[in-house]
Amino acid sequence: MIEHPAYPAEPWQVRETSVDLDRLAQSESVFALSNGHIGLRGNLDEGEPYGLPGTYLNGVYETRPLPYAEGGYGYPETDDTVVNITNGKLIRLLVDDEPLDMRYGTVEAHERILDLRAGTLTRHLDWTSPAGRRVRVTSTRLVSLEQRAVVAIRYEVAPVDEPVLVVVQSELVANETVPTEEDDPRAAAALAAPLEAEYHATGAGKAALVHSVRRSRLRVAAAMTNLVDGPERMHTELVSSADLARYTAAARLEPGERLQLVKLVGYGWSRSRSVPALRDQVSAALTAAELSGWEGLAAGQRQAMDDFWSRADVEIDGDVALQQAVRFGLFHILQASARAEHRPIPAKGLTGSGYDGHVFWDTEAFVLPVLMHTAPKTVASALQWRRHTMPIAQERARQLGLQGAAFPWRTIHGMECSGYWPAGTAAFHLNADIAGAVIRYVRATGDTEFEAGTGLELLVETARLWRSLGHHDKSGAFRIDGVTGPDEYSAVADNNVYTNLMARRNLAAAADAVARYPGHHEVNDEEAASWRDAAEAMTIPYDRQLRVHPQAEGFTAHAEWDFAKNNRYPLLLHYPYFDLYRRQVVKQADLVLAMHLVGEAFTPEQKARNFAYYERLTVRDSSLSACTQAVLAAEVGHLALAHAYLCEAALMDLDDLEHNTRDGLHLAALAGAWIALVEGFGGMRLLDSVLCFAPRLPDTLSRLTFRLAYRGRRLRVTVTHAAATYELMEGDPLHVTHYSEDVELGKEPVHRPLPPLPDPGPTPEQPPGREPPLGRDIPTPETPGSRVDQESGRS
Ligand code: BGC
Repeated sequence: MIEHPAYPAEPWQVRETSVDLDRLAQSESVFALSNGHIGLRGNLDEGEPYGLPGTYLNGVYETRPLPYAEGGYGYPETDDTVVNITNGKLIRLLVDDEPLDMRYGTVEAHERILDLRAGTLTRHLDWTSPAGRRVRVTSTRLVSLEQRAVVAIRYEVAPVDEPVLVVVQSELVANETVPTEEDDPRAAAALAAPLEAEYHATGAGKAALVHSVRRSRLRVAAAMTNLVDGPERMHTELVSSADLARYTAAARLEPGERLQLVKLVGYGWSRSRSVPALRDQVSAALTAAELSGWEGLAAGQRQAMDDFWSRADVEIDGDVALQQAVRFGLFHILQASARAEHRPIPAKGLTGSGYDGHVFWDTEAFVLPVLMHTAPKTVASALQWRRHTMPIAQERARQLGLQGAAFPWRTIHGMECSGYWPAGTAAFHLNADIAGAVIRYVRATGDTEFEAGTGLELLVETARLWRSLGHHDKSGAFRIDGVTGPDEYSAVADNNVYTNLMARRNLAAAADAVARYPGHHEVNDEEAASWRDAAEAMTIPYDRQLRVHPQAEGFTAHAEWDFAKNNRYPLLLHYPYFDLYRRQVVKQADLVLAMHLVGEAFTPEQKARNFAYYERLTVRDSSLSACTQAVLAAEVGHLALAHAYLCEAALMDLDDLEHNTRDGLHLAALAGAWIALVEGFGGMRLLDSVLCFAPRLPDTLSRLTFRLAYRGRRLRVTVTHAAATYELMEGDPLHVTHYSEDVELGKEPVHRPLPPLPDPGPTPEQPPGREPPLGRDIPTPETPGSRVDQESGRS
């Protein structure tokens, strides 16, 4: 049973109507604000109580040794872990001698609203102190999408019935105490006091702290200024010490009066810049923020959000909770990437310290495909980050005895941080996922400048990796042996179909790109020809007897998992990998993902048979699975099942389906909601450079509208049960396909009827206990959402 109170189903906001102090950590992730550079968890203004305090700067990490019981050659020796940096969102309040603290006194009313159009988090609190003094507090915070280094908070306190003496303390605090995590490998290890003080000062109403991270030696600066407005008689002061800067404002407020504080915080970090340089950088960011003021920053935020929604909004008729969840997901995808600017997009964005803040293949395989059509510039920037880490990936390839570049399975600054090689080093598919994102980005945008530079370099170095990792056997077939595919319940297998198909595309695209941009990268004709040979001879195993594709060679001969006996999920926390690896049990879509991303390699009949086969083996112990299963379920015609998987992806964090949203949001699953809608029910595929649609809706939805950015254009597609309408909102005329029919889009909208859906046969079964809830109750607007009731625990 999901135990947290649901958020009411409202289309453009996520509103918490009362606070549950035992579940603060989850709401801190849901209400996190970020611009991809700075991340603030949704901690309460007064700092305590908290689930997990969190303020992050993208790219700031601490280095820790990775211990092994038994070491081995090529094992990574150190780990990057995200650091909770200086907290600039802290605003404490004293009400007639008593600190505002939700654990004491009486909370008369408490509401928090994440406004998806304004890009802000607002809090309304009505609180009576233990001594009976009642105040109303309203705060709104934003992490500016426009001014990358800036956080702004407008904080207001007013007495309700009697005069009160209030003291507001607005702070910068370094080295906050962070609670230690329980024993779950997916959570992060807490670091005690990771910041060393280097500088602190106050002056001209500003305060600044500069620290460096103890071992990684990254330098972090934070500065604040506080603009106060209140009664004439007020006392203020500003002090700083090594780990604390504090601005205090005290005033006696009569009923009808208020004290308002606008707090502006500037952040910056660097590996190489000096203390004075960073100090001046954050001071300048503050001055620029002062120039805009609260109103200017809030208006800029709204404008940035409007711009995003004009390309990204998805409208769903018939299910407000789903509507809300899909926009919530898109909002967080934008937040994670908008101003990341050549920095990674971690699996949890900057919403929590789960997975140590690492970036995985989640970014290239799930998040970037959504951004390509909603905020394309962010994609080039994320891929440029990969390119910046190229020297480290090349060094890693050498260490492994390979050519080209071997990108890390998990990392912050580019070094491999996975201490478990069967699901880390061996998961080479990540390299083809990066190449896949390059190929798709170029198709979706026509950005040839990117292709000729960053794109080509990534394609060439990953092609070199594949060529050296695989080999031609005696028959001439190209094999890639001993690798791990997306399904982490199988490891070190031969010829994983997903890996081989993605590698095949990678090799062919690299050879094509080299031919388009000759003379680059010292790739001679012979080398490019060897990539083509490997691609053409790629081994794609097929089980003729069962008439399905084995996920990897030999997979369909393995013993099946005994679900009747061994059904404690997630399996990875209850059963040994040794046993999982040798049986037919699938953690997350693998062969099914191959059918989504390389669909042209399968016939419709193979897709239907493979889908049914893998459904009964796939336990979805990873949040990356449901969206892929939704896409294939829609493609083979199981629309109710597709809808159930869509809901699972979309509600992953609002409903805390995995019971670990406290560690941070599941960005790939949130991106997956868009993927399930647009590529599942919209049937969108980008084949070569043609945008293809094959839309179909489940009974539960009456209309779906989505917008898309595509090669400098903006499109809008509306799907009902009867027809699809394609509109070109902006840009030059374009040809797309509707169920393989060529359609020209110009000034006028184009309507096309939907063909009848062939009978897909019985709905495939899932492992016992892992059936997605079909036919979830659909809440009406403004009523609490009916949330999926499911015992889970995915990673
Ligand atoms: C999944 C991986 C994923 C990682 C981070 C794991 O549980 O199996 O595919 O990259 O989580 O989200």
